Amino acid sequence: MKKTVVITGASSGIGRALALEFASRGYNVGIAARRLEKLQALQQEMSALPGASGIQVALACLDVKDTFSVEPALQQLFAEFDRVDVVVVNAGVNQLTRVGKGQLAEEVSLIQTNLVGAVATVNAAAQYFKTQGGGHVVGISSLASLSAIPTQAAYCATKAGFSMYMDAAAIELKKHKVRFTKILPGFVKTDIVENMDQYPFLISAEQAAKEIVGHVEKGSKEGVVPAFPWRIMKPLMGKIPDGLWKYLM
Ligand SMILES: NC(=O)c1ccc[n+]([C@@H]2O[C@H](COP(=O)([O-])OP(=O)(O)OC[C@H]3O[C@@H](n4cnc5c(N)ncnc54)[C@H](OP(=O)(O)O)[C@@H]3O)[C@@H](O)[C@H]2O)c1
Repeated sequence: MKKTVVITGASSGIGRALALEFASRGYNVGIAARRLEKLQALQQEMSALPGASGIQVALACLDVKDTFSVEPALQQLFAEFDRVDVVVVNAGVNQLTRVGKGQLAEEVSLIQTNLVGAVATVNAAAQYFKTQGGGHVVGISSLASLSAIPTQAAYCATKAGFSMYMDAAAIELKKHKVRFTKILPGFVKTDIVENMDQYPFLISAEQAAKEIVGHVEKGSKEGVVPAFPWRIMKPLMGKIPDGLWKYLM
């Protein structure tokens, strides 16, 4: 029987690449985001992939900032399939924000999408998986969850918060056979910020997707992407001296 994955934030970047990677491995795929026309184009593209013959694709218009609409929208998407095995909590945004510079609205918006939206998505998945008797939640956090990056205070806080939320939820839901995989990407070339090319150890969304799907299929608790060099550098992430940041940014 084919497995089924549902991915939020599938209209571009990592989410889109994940949808294509899962489809090419024969998974049924549910895709959700705000831009429906992008999802419709992706649905066509997925169906034409070698390896994807006979897969089921369903899509849903979803705004994770509209917190209390997330649960019903996702339950409706889940109901399109006989069962759902994996939910990838991926929808997210980033923006440089400066503390004390009148950017509270931008910071609140970031927190609502990346943290509150992710929490709402995990809740929807957990509720469905508890009824089903198990399932796998994959959360796209970030290496930024481990480091206090100036001009990224809100973004770092959302990812640290989301990582901690998943760690606690994993313990709580173990008895319901709900597993968690926390993904910590480094820099992936997407539209999430401008001038992505300036960042070190940049990889394509396609490479990120291959590594992430590898972690999902292995059932890793945590996946650092790309593994090289970030897995070696991970223990240093919270230890960058304050004075070094002016040379790094
Ligand atoms: N790129 C990186 O270097 C990097 C590194 C670490 C972590 N990440 C994380 O990876 C995830 C994906 O980012 P990406 O780089 O692939 O960025 P991206 O190309 O900009 O894609 C972001 C996706 O999230 C969706 N999204 C944004 N706001 C949403 C909302 N309110 N409701 C529903 N969907 C929403 C977007 O779809 P719509 O606009 O159509 O809604 C889009 O599909 C994010 O959580 C990000 O924090 C990225």
